[in-house]
Amino acid sequence: MSDVKSKDGEGWFYSEKVKDHFFNPRNILKTKKEADEYSKEADGEGEVGSPACGDVMKIWIKVKDDKIMECKYQTFGCASAIASTSIFSTMVIGSKIEKALRITPKDIVHVLGGLPANKFHCSVLADQAFKKAVEDYRKNQ
Ligand code: FES
Repeated sequence: MSDVKSKDGEGWFYSEKVKDHFFNPRNILKTKKEADEYSKEADGEGEVGSPACGDVMKIWIKVKDDKIMECKYQTFGCASAIASTSIFSTMVIGSKIEKALRITPKDIVHVLGGLPANKFHCSVLADQAFKKAVEDYRKNQ
């Protein structure tokens, strides 16, 4: 574990889990081409921007029998946003939609083993984009 200094000199602590999911993000779509292709076959998509930092998160889901079968994403966000959404995707895949909707940003941060306080908003992107993807899926039913 390391304690990296932020620009303003405050300590930033990243857990091993954050680092693992940042360096090896699960279910991420890395290129525009991958995202374009996946968006054609996904059942729902949601996009949000963070008022706190201006970063953007896009999530796609595939659903079968009310269960999240796949959850992929693309983000122009920071390391914490990537780690949060990576772990979030592993939490929702295989869950019923209603159960997945009950996962909060606080739960994401807890499973990650914590995030620096000024990075909490990064975990909110996953939650909000996922909710929009579910809304989009339901609209098309
Ligand atoms: Fe923008 Fe983390 S700082 S998502």
